[in-house]
Amino acid sequence: MQILFVASECAPFVKTGGLADVIGAVPKALAPLGADVRVLLPAYPALSAQLGAGETVLDLGELMGGPARVVAARAQGIDLLLLDAPHLFERAGNIYLGPDGRDWPDNWARFAALSKVGAMIAQGALDGWAPDVVNAHDWQAGLVPAYLAAAGSRVPTVVTIHNIAFQGVFGADILGPIGLPPDWHQIDRGEYYGGFSYLKAGLMSCDRITTVSPTYARELMRPEYGMGLDGVMRARRADLSGIVNGIDLDAWNPETDPALPAPYDARSLRRKGANRDALMARFGLEPGAGPLFCVISRLTEQKGLDLLVEAIPALLARDARLALLGGGERWMEEAFASAAARHPGRIGAVIGYDETLSHLIQGGADAILIPSRFEPCGLTQLYGLRYGTVPVVARTGGLADTVIDANPAALDAGVATGVQFTPVDALGLQDAIDRTCELFDRPRDWAAIQRRGMKQPVGWHASAEAYLSLFQSLI
Ligand code: ADP
Ligand code: GLC
Repeated sequence: MQILFVASECAPFVKTGGLADVIGAVPKALAPLGADVRVLLPAYPALSAQLGAGETVLDLGELMGGPARVVAARAQGIDLLLLDAPHLFERAGNIYLGPDGRDWPDNWARFAALSKVGAMIAQGALDGWAPDVVNAHDWQAGLVPAYLAAAGSRVPTVVTIHNIAFQGVFGADILGPIGLPPDWHQIDRGEYYGGFSYLKAGLMSCDRITTVSPTYARELMRPEYGMGLDGVMRARRADLSGIVNGIDLDAWNPETDPALPAPYDARSLRRKGANRDALMARFGLEPGAGPLFCVISRLTEQKGLDLLVEAIPALLARDARLALLGGGERWMEEAFASAAARHPGRIGAVIGYDETLSHLIQGGADAILIPSRFEPCGLTQLYGLRYGTVPVVARTGGLADTVIDANPAALDAGVATGVQFTPVDALGLQDAIDRTCELFDRPRDWAAIQRRGMKQPVGWHASAEAYLSLFQSLI
């Protein structure tokens, strides 16, 4: 089976969040099942080095105001199709945002171009390779099914929602420039409160919709989570399913992780202590009786870390420590930087993005805090499970599906893997921090939770099969 993925990020080349991890891992998980996956990505500067090593497989002439071509290259075990369009993608800095921190003003053109080329490849534009199915990820690829439907193509399409908060909404005046007929500005197509949404256009024109956990699939049909698209999700409920994300077990393996001074596994869990020491030193933390909590996250409203700002006194009252790595909203960055300045030795904050440090943190921390208001899947709790770093999570989306709360019944039954809390507010989080500290004070229970987490099947195996059978059902 030949499958085309269209996406805007792919680890390890270009990443702003979990989407990249997923796009970098699924093709490798599908290959042993007999699938030939190619990933169409924009040739951002981080990918330009691959261009030289690749071969031009499609000359596009002029595309959205400049010359463009598609280059095929294989790197890190992934077959890439790179949309080389320097006028759209060869820019320094963030792939979505300009130097002023706002969306690039031509994002409508950049990701329409990506989707248009995805649709062309689906329709057989490449010599010798055409997909049986196209899987378009998030709004940046949302127009792939729209272009295909507008062209009367029958190639089956799947849209995967990684986060419905990002919908790709632009003014209706772009329809002409992106080459969709005016009747796409209709309520049963891409029209969205007067504007035009790339995600909605995709959701209304694809064959099937997936999202990244079963709970989020249900949540999406409710107004509190659907962000204006819950009606669309309800209308398409028969075609909607949730397939939980996995993680790349090679990239995230505490036994072989080069970022860890002391690699370990479930049997040599004691060695995690040496990583803890290294992490404390890196964040300038002093020993305390309570657990060492960590956060590795975008600092946004979604992630609920404003609740943690409020819960800091509760954490300190327990003689716990906090090591935070994150970046995002300026006020939250400042709040954590100033908490670290006020409580040296007890709170450490690194503001920014650091992949290697994120591995050391998973290897060294006792518990990872994830108080998200919504979380389609979440990956850091899965990394936490694999690293014996107990996840303390809000009961929502994929967090609810992947962590089993350590309540007395679950402890007795020997199934607990972490701590879940609801309601998702500052008191709920404080209560979860308290419960975690109490568990931490019972070393045998704590170690049992850690070891059980480390044995959870968090790889891609089961979910890759679920994707494959979905694709097969469409052919
Ligand atoms: P989201 O995609 O919503 O940000 P996920 O949990 O799915 O959330 O994925 C986040 C990914 O980004 C994880 O791989 C996590 O380790 C990584 N990450 C988030 N913030 C940082 C950071 N500041 N430095 C390094 N890695 C980070
Ligand atoms: C999004 C979601 C996150 C999910 C990731 C990968 O960024 O916010 O929950 O894990 O996509 O699917």
